[in-house]
Amino acid sequence: MKMAVSPTPALDSRMFRNVMGRFPTGVAVVTFLREGEPAGITVNSFLPVSMDPPLVLVSLRRESSAIHHLDVGDRYAVNVLSEAQQSLGAHFAGSPVAGLTVAFSRQQDVPLIPGSLAHIVARVVDVHEAGDHFLYIAAVEYLWQGNEAQPLIFYSGRYKQLHAHDPSTHFDDVLESW
Ligand SMILES: Cc1cc2nc3c(=O)[nH]c(=O)nc-3n(C[C@H](O)[C@H](O)[C@H](O)COP(=O)(O)O)c2cc1C
Repeated sequence: MKMAVSPTPALDSRMFRNVMGRFPTGVAVVTFLREGEPAGITVNSFLPVSMDPPLVLVSLRRESSAIHHLDVGDRYAVNVLSEAQQSLGAHFAGSPVAGLTVAFSRQQDVPLIPGSLAHIVARVVDVHEAGDHFLYIAAVEYLWQGNEAQPLIFYSGRYKQLHAHDPSTHFDDVLESW
């Protein structure tokens, strides 16, 4: 469905970042093979797109080196980070942590980061250009979930922790209607 698009008004890019930052997200490292070697990029643009068929999406900056190693038919993994993996978030976001080595495991030839909250392995089925990013839509081929540990949260440009009330509050009515 195409819609008429009116010209975009000039926006303050700092304001755009700040306002988008008010939407809290998890943090994941997208892993893939770079010339046969494990590589990763920290993202918060991970999005489940479709249930049937199961499709996911990550949005990567045009300048990211990852875009030279991902195309239709290639696989990537989404490793959902726990709070205990905060150093990995920085490590794969262009600030390598000295001495940090990741003992990658493998699934369908894709590197996985042990200790993650969940792994999703998916094969790229579509790449869309979107402004200064590329959207990588991928068909899910493998799923794994670990224990329900504390996730790493990104909010207002900073890593945050998810604070549980004691006793914790459950909003079961909301979950059931999704
Ligand atoms: C919390 C967080 C979320 C990020 N999300 C994305 C993202 O969704 N897409 C993206 O292209 N870069 C994202 N980045 C930036 C990349 O991780 C960073 O630019 C990385 O260095 C790019 O990899 P490269 O140096 O191999 O190009 C994010 C960084 C952080 C810290």
